[in-house]
Amino acid sequence: MPEYTTHTYDVLVIGAGGAGLRAAIEASAAGVSIGVICKSLLGKAHTVMAEGGIAAAMGNVDERDNWQVHFADTMRGGQYLNNWRMAELHARESPDCVRELEAWGALFDRTKDGRILQRNFGGHKYPRLAHVGDRTGLEMIRTLQDHGIHQGIEVHMECTVLKLLMDDGRVVGAFGYDRERGRFLLFKAKAVVVATGGIGRAYKITSNSWEYTGDGLALAYDAGADLIDMEFLQFHPTGMVWPPSVCGILVTEGVRGEGGVLRNKEHRRFMFDDIPEPYRTQTADNEEEGWRYTQGDRNARRPPELLTRDHIARCIVREIKEGRGSPHGGVLLDISWIKERIPNAEEHIKKKLPSMYHQFKQLADIDITKEPMEVGPTTHYMMGGIKVDGDTQMSTVPGLFAAGECAAGLHGANRLGGNSLSDLLVFGKRAGYYAACFAKKSGLGPVADAQINLAASNALAPFERTNSAEGPYQVQQDLQEMMQNLVGIVRTGGELEQALPELERLGERSKHLAVSGNREYNNGWHTALDLPNLLTVSEAVTRAAIERQESRGAHFREDRPNKDPEFGKVNIIIRKGPAGEMQVIRQPVPAMPQELKQIIEEMK
Ligand code: FUM
Repeated sequence: MPEYTTHTYDVLVIGAGGAGLRAAIEASAAGVSIGVICKSLLGKAHTVMAEGGIAAAMGNVDERDNWQVHFADTMRGGQYLNNWRMAELHARESPDCVRELEAWGALFDRTKDGRILQRNFGGHKYPRLAHVGDRTGLEMIRTLQDHGIHQGIEVHMECTVLKLLMDDGRVVGAFGYDRERGRFLLFKAKAVVVATGGIGRAYKITSNSWEYTGDGLALAYDAGADLIDMEFLQFHPTGMVWPPSVCGILVTEGVRGEGGVLRNKEHRRFMFDDIPEPYRTQTADNEEEGWRYTQGDRNARRPPELLTRDHIARCIVREIKEGRGSPHGGVLLDISWIKERIPNAEEHIKKKLPSMYHQFKQLADIDITKEPMEVGPTTHYMMGGIKVDGDTQMSTVPGLFAAGECAAGLHGANRLGGNSLSDLLVFGKRAGYYAACFAKKSGLGPVADAQINLAASNALAPFERTNSAEGPYQVQQDLQEMMQNLVGIVRTGGELEQALPELERLGERSKHLAVSGNREYNNGWHTALDLPNLLTVSEAVTRAAIERQESRGAHFREDRPNKDPEFGKVNIIIRKGPAGEMQVIRQPVPAMPQELKQIIEEMK
């Protein structure tokens, strides 16, 4: 038996971003004991990369906004593959979640008459994003962290979970290790909430930091949970492209929300060239009108830079491919031009986009108040993930809940910017509450020694393979390169098929790699343990992308460039088969109730 320390909780939350913290707060408020595990330090989460705001139909800037419009926008953005119940709950509940966050100490930017200010973002009909300059995610994490700690939740920092422990089909805990010392940890729990975020590290260019290796999705999949919509991966249109060391770092959509425009090297606003049908009536066809919209003119239509992210990312790729890109292989994003329109533009930009100002000044020596930024698409967000019940957030495995980016359903084929932060609040809260309810009616399950032994010996295996020439970093890098090239923004059936044997070869290499040194502070070892998760989620994305033989939302296939109505009726499910094989299943999209259908019709 390996040595390990045991911790016991009613509810164990894996992940301490916005969703994990919100779940922990809610479960704790329901009177159960909570343990939170985070892979890095508390407060460091991809949540902070949602900079531009929290989408919530509060109607503070435009009183025509309401939950019905937000619901319709979210469904249209997701190309109607969304879990309609989640889209409904999200639109209804996000305003209260924002107000609750404010009551806990979040300091939002204000309107002139003192209400929470809301800004424009892509795909949202009205100014809807409650924000704190361009640091909204950071303010959210700070607030939740303070609130949670005062509530007495216990946090295990710098821990990685290796395995969910099962008894008779139900989750009964998790086994992992602390990253500093490399010591094993057993967490017994009556219910588990997975809130581990996304999979960005499967790609070479990403806004995600090192933690995002798809752990929660792979853990849940291995435990028998269904994954859904894995083909839909969001490439945020604007990441930094230069210098190479910071390639992929996010440039918030808030820049465009404040009037920033995209230009190619010919200085042309190429987004006017291609406005997709569903958005024609809402999108300006001239600069003047788009600018008026940004300034709050209710009769104007929004600029094309505020179309949905999938579309903008593809237009940028087209410009670059056709030779109209910027010097370092991106396009130009210009906010400095607003000085032609408003007095004190420099001060305005620094006030509304302070992080972007400093980011470009310090990392690229660019003053965004005077010159354009160079930007290009960056892997940002996984729309797919663990399939959950819309109300309770329980996965298809009893006792296993999921919330935030690692859970799926709300966003369908494409997420609207800002819907991520409201997603974390609405569904983090729900997951915490229902996990606490589950824990209250369930006892602790038995944990079989065999499961612990196997997880521990698998984890230590790379230390035993002293003869192997290969370490984990090269395998990880080759995987990222391969996914970027073959399963990226623009896909083809041939390239996707080519990715499968590549994944198999990478999987074989990962089984034979070795690490040196000991268990303390051993980054090579951590990377080796992350790899199986990256491989699982990469295979899931690839297989789902092969199955969806059409283009829809964030999934674009050059060999099938149109939507196929038949695929508009199905979600793709990924499930672990009895022999460990990855199964791909088409599942009909559940029928929407008449009253919600009517809302969508009316909004059209
Ligand atoms: O561009 C951004 O600020 C990102 C927001 C989001 O992903 O929701």
